[in-house]
Amino acid sequence: MAENKKNSAYISAGESRRITRFNRRVTKKLEKARADAGRDSSLYTTVMKDPNNVVEFDNVCTYFFSDVGTVKAVDGVNFSVPKHSTVGVVGESGCGKSVTSLSLMQLLQRPSGQVVGGEIRFNKGDGTAYNIANTPNSVMEHIRGNKISMIFQEPMTSLNPVFKIGAQVDEVTKLHFPDLDDEAVKARTLDMLDLVGIANKEGVYNMYPHELSGGMRQRICIAIALACSPTLIIADEPTTALDVTIQAQILDLLQNLKDKLNSSIMLITHDLGVVAGMADYVVVMYAGRVVEKGTADDIFHHPAHPYTIGLMASKPVVGKKVENLYNIPGSVPNPVDMPNYCYFRDRCEMQCERCSGLYPPEIKISDTHYVSCYRYYDEGELIGYPKSVKVEEL
Ligand SMILES: Nc1ncnc2c1ncn2[C@@H]1O[C@H](COP(=O)(O)OP(=O)(O)OP(=O)(O)O)[C@@H](O)[C@H]1O
Ligand code: SF4
Ligand SMILES: [Mg+2]
Repeated sequence: MAENKKNSAYISAGESRRITRFNRRVTKKLEKARADAGRDSSLYTTVMKDPNNVVEFDNVCTYFFSDVGTVKAVDGVNFSVPKHSTVGVVGESGCGKSVTSLSLMQLLQRPSGQVVGGEIRFNKGDGTAYNIANTPNSVMEHIRGNKISMIFQEPMTSLNPVFKIGAQVDEVTKLHFPDLDDEAVKARTLDMLDLVGIANKEGVYNMYPHELSGGMRQRICIAIALACSPTLIIADEPTTALDVTIQAQILDLLQNLKDKLNSSIMLITHDLGVVAGMADYVVVMYAGRVVEKGTADDIFHHPAHPYTIGLMASKPVVGKKVENLYNIPGSVPNPVDMPNYCYFRDRCEMQCERCSGLYPPEIKISDTHYVSCYRYYDEGELIGYPKSVKVEEL
């Protein structure tokens, strides 16, 4: 009976009131701490662990204080994006890919969504870094769009349907280059349209989004994102809304522009094919944590974590005939009430004795390859356990 009550989604009125009171207290405290840190630049300035990285996520914890409890959407995430490279972030729906990137852009739904622990270091270019979690809005406004920009999944919803394309690209250029006059802004916009492969740039400049195809609209979104030559481009499922041939063109375009602008790309997708064709490094996320990371070759040719192995087995291979594709049994645990053991254990077909213990540590199994799984406990180098934040101590 007690067990049933614990597992049920039912929340009593008293419990609901307790959660609301707790959320109000904690979010108020976190907002205040953030505002205080924002007043003193030394509190949001730090140093990069490796100056060759553009971004370092160091034990980042992003939680949502929701009406049903605290959702640990991202919980102790560690990975970096090296300069001039493409890092693919993969994982099933709800594993925290978008929340990781929104934490970096400071675009979380606040006050309920908060970075409660860890550091997100963004390289200023001289080895020092912004700790994004504490950086005030006034500074973020110069980073967002100028240094980090984002391309979203659905170009139609990213563009404003009532403004012409030219006006929308001009607006971004004007915001970031306030000294340019109207003529120079238009010239830059036309250059950007040219750069993203729009043939009839003068015509498109005067069109509305609904007059363009999906692929053309995504090109415009890319032009907007790249208007200020950012050092990091976050592409969150940039090709999911497009058909396969246009997908390939858009990915080619992104890759070329990245090289031209000397930028890095954080490519978020659940499509392994997209990552295989483009990424230098791959980060595999599961239930808010990184379970494996390495070079594209490590992940695609030597997958180590049972979840990654399952993902690889579940993708179709051209020329290979199978009756049924493999599917990973079970489902992701409830994000409000995560277990204290390996999050994948209830679905894992490769468990060993140690798996009944705490959540596994990150283990280095080669110079570039890291995995959080007890199967490698004896052979690899132990890096550390993910650091979760105890919400009751906030
Ligand atoms: N505003 C919010 N309030 C409460 N929970 C949220 C909120 N936004 C996201 N979450 C939760 O955070 C978790 C991670 O969500 P996220 O959007 O990062 O997933 P994702 O990996 O990007 O998935 P997808 O592939 O579907 O885009 C999910 O469990 C989601 O329910
Ligand atoms: S730690 Fe154990 S349960 Fe978890 S993925 Fe590895 S083998 Fe499976
Ligand atoms: Mg997402």
